Amino acid sequence: MSVDATQIEAALKEYTDPYLEKDLVSANCIKNIAIDGTTAKIDVALGFPAKGYTETLANELKSKVEAIDGIDSAEFNFSDTIVSHAAQKGVSHIKGVKNIIAVASGKGGVGKSTTSVNLALALAADGANVGILDADIYGPSQPRMLGVSDAKPESSDGTTMEPVISLGLQSMSIGYLIEEDTPMIWRGPMVTQALEQLLNDTTWREVDYLVIDLPPGTGDTQLTLAQKVPVSGAVIVTTPQDIALLDARKAYKMFEKVEVPVLGVIENMSIHICSECGHEENIFGEGGGQKMSEDFDIKFLGALPLDMQIRQEADNGKPTVAADPDGRVTEIYKDIARRTTAKLAQQAKDYSSKFPKIVIAND
Ligand SMILES: Nc1ncnc2c1ncn2[C@@H]1O[C@H](COP(=O)(O)OP(=O)(O)OP(=O)(O)O)[C@@H](O)[C@H]1O
Ligand SMILES: [Mg+2]
Repeated sequence: MSVDATQIEAALKEYTDPYLEKDLVSANCIKNIAIDGTTAKIDVALGFPAKGYTETLANELKSKVEAIDGIDSAEFNFSDTIVSHAAQKGVSHIKGVKNIIAVASGKGGVGKSTTSVNLALALAADGANVGILDADIYGPSQPRMLGVSDAKPESSDGTTMEPVISLGLQSMSIGYLIEEDTPMIWRGPMVTQALEQLLNDTTWREVDYLVIDLPPGTGDTQLTLAQKVPVSGAVIVTTPQDIALLDARKAYKMFEKVEVPVLGVIENMSIHICSECGHEENIFGEGGGQKMSEDFDIKFLGALPLDMQIRQEADNGKPTVAADPDGRVTEIYKDIARRTTAKLAQQAKDYSSKFPKIVIAND
């Protein structure tokens, strides 16, 4: 008796994808199943960047499909087309950018900038075209973290700016335009305007994900972001201290109010691993991010250790994902990046640009 597609689907369903948290059939990722004698050919469309993951995935799926009586070999063809996802209603699209992911926290100094840049690098390593916008007008961090403190964006027409390219990322920051030690004494409306210009006047080039590194709290920048920037999803960074979590909850509430989906929470500086003896210690308490994710029913994206390597590499202009591409910490960032974009891939798509213009004519 020959094998049919239903049997293949049943076998594929036995594997739960760790990033989508469901099987690939239920996640609508199986696009075609062809059976040629005892060979099955399966097309898989993942919807999130996964270059470093498809080999593992293929092996997992292969073992399930090849266990079917009558199938000797299973071949997989992966594609990871990234589409644009819906943002707040009525906020217009940014040219050259498919999706915006905001990285926020309630409290300062929890590691938003470090996390943003490493997530951006992880997405790029998995095959996406990635940009990073430093939305911290008062204290920009990205020029230093990307190792381009002295860079100045070029302009070919005197109005728009080319993004600065470093470590494979397109980036823009007020830090490229103003001397590092110039104090920024700006009022709210100026901050708003500066942010809008950095975003809109940059010639982003086919960016799949633009990661926005936010300043701490829920001030003018966040308000502008909520009202004028099409954000597809937000990620909240927290440390395990209770007080930081209280602030993280405020950040969560803010996004909820403006209907930006919170893709999940990342716990940073979670455990301390002693560089001398390898002993692990929960300096700031245990499981705070996990608890927040349970309380608010949002996804726990992962936890990063308090690790000297993370600080040194970011401060030296080559963050961990770029400096140590095969290291354990890089693996954690990649895991978090995939969970984030897999979550986004399951949100509504943006059809706004596809609707025809309705014209009412009196004739
Ligand atoms: N997991 C980590 N382990 C060790 N050091 C870290 C870790 N994450 C961040 N750091 C360090 O902590 C400091 C603060 O991090 P970062 O600048 O990313 O925080 P932030 O939330 O963006 O701060 P701000 O609110 O001022 O924008 C930096 O020196 C950074 O290198
Ligand atoms: Mg920062």
